[in-house]
Amino acid sequence: MALRINPDVDPKTHPYISTGLKKSKFGIDISLAMEEYRVARELSHIDVVGVHQHIGSQITEIAPFVDSLAKMAGLIAELRNHGFAIKYLDVGGGLGITYKDEDPPVPRVFAEALIAVIKDLGCTIVLEPGRVIVGNAGVLVTKVLYNKRTPTKHFIVVDAGMNDLVRPSLYGSFHSILPARREKGRETVVADVVGPVCESGDFLAKDRSMPVPEPEELLVVMSAGAYGHTMSSNYNSRPRPPEILVKGDRWFTIRERESYEDLIRGERVPEL
Ligand SMILES: Cc1ncc(COP(=O)(O)O)c(C=O)c1O
Repeated sequence: MALRINPDVDPKTHPYISTGLKKSKFGIDISLAMEEYRVARELSHIDVVGVHQHIGSQITEIAPFVDSLAKMAGLIAELRNHGFAIKYLDVGGGLGITYKDEDPPVPRVFAEALIAVIKDLGCTIVLEPGRVIVGNAGVLVTKVLYNKRTPTKHFIVVDAGMNDLVRPSLYGSFHSILPARREKGRETVVADVVGPVCESGDFLAKDRSMPVPEPEELLVVMSAGAYGHTMSSNYNSRPRPPEILVKGDRWFTIRERESYEDLIRGERVPEL
């Protein structure tokens, strides 16, 4: 086993996805690590072989990884001095992607920076990337229901909501939204793109400049491949949409659209 260590570094990302700060719930405080490794060593059936970190997600700078890994390297040296045969260093995930105008390091640059810090450790490196692999491989396609104009705002009401993609509501995240069919010369508007869920937090974009869409038109919510479907829910009794894999000009349903029966599957009415 490896212990997840909290290195107390600021990954400079959204607070909800920062996991390596002292105040975060994750990991073992690095100052207490040696004590916990000693406890682990006494356990029969447990082989203490590694050190693990995961400092956060959507990290767009190299420095937090380098700072954290320098601390891990120090800990590994200390552990080895105390007789622990540390063979694995799990560096976690966390590499960010471009949603809007972020310029995160590409994996090669990330790797070069990590190698500089950890190459002499002689450890097998374990990586846990998620978002950087799938984030920009997925989109959410939604249908425009109607345009609602109030005295102060223009709302584009669509059939996807916060239950389908919670990132904007949860973290205030930006997702680019494009019409599926691009047409030049359309009137543009500054609008909120909102779903049909009973919450004012049910939005996919706020104050976004976009072409005024027609009802029934499809909009594409970009960069929805990570923390999209997996964070979706059935809130407001909304069955979740299918997931479609597209390869070249072929497509496959890789997850069925949910039915109303799916929503109540597993529920029981007790005999009172
Ligand atoms: C322990 C751990 N490893 C890896 C990941 C993947 O992170 P990312 O998608 O930022 O690469 C997460 C995400 O929450 C995580 O908690």
